[in-house]
Amino acid sequence: MATSSDSASLLDYGRNVTNGLGRITEGIMTSGKGSYVEYDDGRKMLDFTCGYGVTSLGHCHPKISKAAADQCMNIVHAQCNIAFHEPYLRLIKKLLPIMPDASLDSFFFWNSGSEAVETALKMARIVTGRQNIICMQGAFHGHTFGAMAVTKSKTIYSKGVAPLMPGVFSIPFPFWHQLGETPDLPESAQVARCLYQLDLLLAQQTAPADTAAIIVEPVLGEGGYVPAPAAFLEGLRAVCDKHGILLIADEVQSGFSRTGKFFAIEYSGVRPDILIMAKGLANGFPLSAVVSRKELTDKLASGSMGGTYAGNAVSCAAACAVVDAMHEENILSQVNERSSELFSALNAIKTAHPAHILDVRGRGLMVAVEFATPAGPGAAHDAVAARDGVAAQMASRVAKKCIERGMLILTTSVYEVVRFLPPLNISATDLKKGAEIFREAVEEVIREG
Ligand SMILES: Cc1ncc(COP(=O)(O)O)c(C=O)c1O
Repeated sequence: MATSSDSASLLDYGRNVTNGLGRITEGIMTSGKGSYVEYDDGRKMLDFTCGYGVTSLGHCHPKISKAAADQCMNIVHAQCNIAFHEPYLRLIKKLLPIMPDASLDSFFFWNSGSEAVETALKMARIVTGRQNIICMQGAFHGHTFGAMAVTKSKTIYSKGVAPLMPGVFSIPFPFWHQLGETPDLPESAQVARCLYQLDLLLAQQTAPADTAAIIVEPVLGEGGYVPAPAAFLEGLRAVCDKHGILLIADEVQSGFSRTGKFFAIEYSGVRPDILIMAKGLANGFPLSAVVSRKELTDKLASGSMGGTYAGNAVSCAAACAVVDAMHEENILSQVNERSSELFSALNAIKTAHPAHILDVRGRGLMVAVEFATPAGPGAAHDAVAARDGVAAQMASRVAKKCIERGMLILTTSVYEVVRFLPPLNISATDLKKGAEIFREAVEEVIREG
């Protein structure tokens, strides 16, 4: 184990790390157990980030870590273009019964979410013989070139990088703020506007016969933690069915019990043609999956898919243990119980500070609070957020104060949004503690003005 003097000299090498990588805390994270992580200087932090929604069953879950360690002693790298390995096939056996639709029966495992998105786009082009892709304004799909092209949440991800993958078009996602509206715009009106824009897009910019796929996050993540209304997903499905377009559900962040169902798309009952998952799938080991129908994947030439590390044996063994733990520990009911506790704590803060908090939203334990932004030149066309007497940059200031008080938490989107991604098996006591830290941080920022 590193001593603090080792750490001090190690930290010097931080200057050799690319500036392109941002970080929300200083120092070296040395260990993690359950809902907490520790730093080399003795700081112990409650982790409401799960490392961007990955360690959903807590850090170093004993069963998952053991499954990975045991696999390390059998075979680590049984390359997927050379042979099957046992955890790969065992994982498919465990995933098949929990897929949101029985038609999703053909699997390809990758490492990261971005790679899985690339594969889904590539597959959609091959199997439809069409080129164009429709994505959502506010969407985030990753840092690689195709994924960047369908990412519309912030310009920072692709600024200075163009040209990106061509053939990408976007429509608004049903999120009042994104539509320049107020939170009280009825959901049905938001959905109607977005589906109308889709019809227009298909009439004006990308002909259905040129359109391969629509890609959507069932809960908009980096765009602000907005669940897609069922009627919107049903509308997308209907358009896809009418025109032979494939519907891709990106459940990289919302999948694997995060929202209180195994997959967030289950809330709508809509069947995607391709489903992408990652993050919570292997609780920290790099693993993603692209799942589709065999009837579609049979159109792919053998050898057209692959990847040196794709579907790593240790990651697959960990993912098998994740699925087992989700069943054995009754994770879905824990998520739903903690979710209602979190919503009631956050709504109480909103009630106490109605001028500062615009919205509490999300699903399961993928939850966000959006703050108002102050009136000023930058807010000239904003229908809702420009309020007099509201503190500036509340989201980042509140997140910073939470960190100072011992809780890791993230902001998201171009709006003033703090997001809550606690472990799915967090105790009621730790959840309450996190909500209380957040309340104190909000009230301190409001006092400071
Ligand atoms: C919805 C969604 N898709 C794709 C990605 C990209 O995944 P990765 O960072 O593993 O490449 C993310 C990452 O946050 C995501 O939230």
